Amino acid sequence: MSLGLTIVDHPLIQHKLTILRSKDTPTAKFRQLLREISFILGCEATKDLTLGSIEIETPLETGSFPYLEGKKLCFVSILRAGNGLIDGLLDLVPSARVGHIGMRRNHETLEAEQYYYKTPDDLGARQVIMVDPMLATANTSIAAATALKNDGAQQLKFMCLVAAPEGVEAFHSAHPDVPVITAALDRQLNDVGYILPGLGDAGDRLYGTKD
Ligand code: URA
Repeated sequence: MSLGLTIVDHPLIQHKLTILRSKDTPTAKFRQLLREISFILGCEATKDLTLGSIEIETPLETGSFPYLEGKKLCFVSILRAGNGLIDGLLDLVPSARVGHIGMRRNHETLEAEQYYYKTPDDLGARQVIMVDPMLATANTSIAAATALKNDGAQQLKFMCLVAAPEGVEAFHSAHPDVPVITAALDRQLNDVGYILPGLGDAGDRLYGTKD
């Protein structure tokens, strides 16, 4: 669909996502599967990290081997559902820094409004991967990417779980330089901004806040 969109169709991701979509999947399982999927999605999101080399001794001989070169990472969770993707990413890169952005909808202007922001000081020196399970209208992710760029982020990606075509288009018109990595591109948004077929409200399903 778009040059900046990667759909990760690894069979394990697709299998786990199907279980996530089921309305019968309980909270604990939902949380665990989201963590597992984010680990695999994270492999794709970090696949362009630069490798240098390092000399080491194996038990048998000395040799030069690939080793990550200085590029530092920061994962940024868009609250609250983004938190469901952070643990899997930290399983993958335990030394990464983590930032948080809280956005809510202003009911008068209908615009995304920031209520919380905390990231490491050296954002410009890091590869920044912003995460939110659902790319729906993109109002929140567009505002979050703008806030991160205003704070110095130069290398920015957006990793989500399920995207709507309308959201991908809106996000790319606002931030054509920010690649989007997702596990699925679903059919459409409904009239209240939920993704169809989707998986429902990711935050509620993750934290069990609605029956
Ligand atoms: N946010 C969600 O949690 N689910 C959707 O379908 C859309 C936005």
